[in-house]
Amino acid sequence: MTSRPAEVMPFDVGRLRRDFPILTRRVRGRPLVYLDNAATTQKPRCVIEAVADFYTRSNANIHRGIHALSEEATARYEETRRLAARFLNASSPKEIVFTKGTTEAINLVAASYARPRLKSGDEILITHLEHHANIVPWQMVCQATGARLRVAPIDDTGAVILEEFEALLSERTAVVALAHQSNALGTVNPVARMCRLVRENSPAVVLVDGAQAVAHRKVDLKEIDCDFYAFSGHKLFGPTGVGVLYGRYEILKMMEPYQGGGDMIRAVTFERTLYKDPPERFEAGTPPVASVIGLGRAFEYLSGLDRMALSEYEDELLEYGTDRLREIDGLRMIGTAKRKSSVISFVIDGVHPHDLGTILDVEGIAVRAGHHCAQPVMERFGVPATVRASLAFYNTRHELDRLVEALDAAKEMF
Ligand code: ALA
Repeated sequence: MTSRPAEVMPFDVGRLRRDFPILTRRVRGRPLVYLDNAATTQKPRCVIEAVADFYTRSNANIHRGIHALSEEATARYEETRRLAARFLNASSPKEIVFTKGTTEAINLVAASYARPRLKSGDEILITHLEHHANIVPWQMVCQATGARLRVAPIDDTGAVILEEFEALLSERTAVVALAHQSNALGTVNPVARMCRLVRENSPAVVLVDGAQAVAHRKVDLKEIDCDFYAFSGHKLFGPTGVGVLYGRYEILKMMEPYQGGGDMIRAVTFERTLYKDPPERFEAGTPPVASVIGLGRAFEYLSGLDRMALSEYEDELLEYGTDRLREIDGLRMIGTAKRKSSVISFVIDGVHPHDLGTILDVEGIAVRAGHHCAQPVMERFGVPATVRASLAFYNTRHELDRLVEALDAAKEMF
């Protein structure tokens, strides 16, 4: 985490907040404090307007029509693919596959890359801090193929132990799947370094689950050098129902389709079907056109901001919030890794996280309480659940002060 003196604001948060209409809402009579950004981020007006404008002026299906509206819809849909490639520094828009979200993107790779290739004796390596979406699809591959799931452990701060990660890599490792950032702890994995370790020690392909990282830092795929990178639009200030799978083109090209249907074929007879090349091969059926177009606006919106300044501001907020929460007696932080971002997960002695979540809600403060779809992480720290306050660049110190006040009051109640 970087720290700056309090008075040096890298940008005008007040001005940025005005881009997000929902942030002026009152909830239960209090100004909304939205600290559930790891579950989903709020949407800037330009994204909301892009979706509304599509339905108001341009709604049509893509790729199939020869009429003007369909051509317009197709052009805007494909424009998002170009924007995504630029946003991630991918080599080509052909490496961008639109999916429903991160979960579908990981399932696509599990089903289309791993299942047909892995066999008994092969290994899939994940880490202990993965979200269920980056565990269960690989377990399913193991059940179907006889491959073995290996798990790189984390230390007491919630950081992956890199020596152990490296020691688990071998000629047997066929797939490595790891989170860029943990949703439950906020730990940031040194993914570029981990990808290098994979290349040096195994023939595996690497998938990085970027769901929690993309909103908080600039992602440069040339620097990370992974084979697949997955994230969801709704966690990047875009609409729900759309995600991105980046895949290295030569690998996508080798993969069979994930689903069969319209728009992913060149020719169909009852005897044989010829598939299109990637990425269309992986986009069967009508995609969420409006959401893809809205996501395009989110890429443009973020590209117009100083991403480095946003990350620094968020890191400073994280440090401030962490220090303030530590003042609360009986509060235990879950996840204290040196490299972490945007997530403050904690428990308070004698109060169940769900009760805390409910009390905070009464104050108009939105957090998530539960296992965060990361039960192995909870088990590692010996807790059934945590309260999670998760940040975005539109949060403020004042909001974190309100969180602390509400928690102090909750403690009094119990
Ligand atoms: N994966 C999302 C979260 O962590 C839903 O809350």
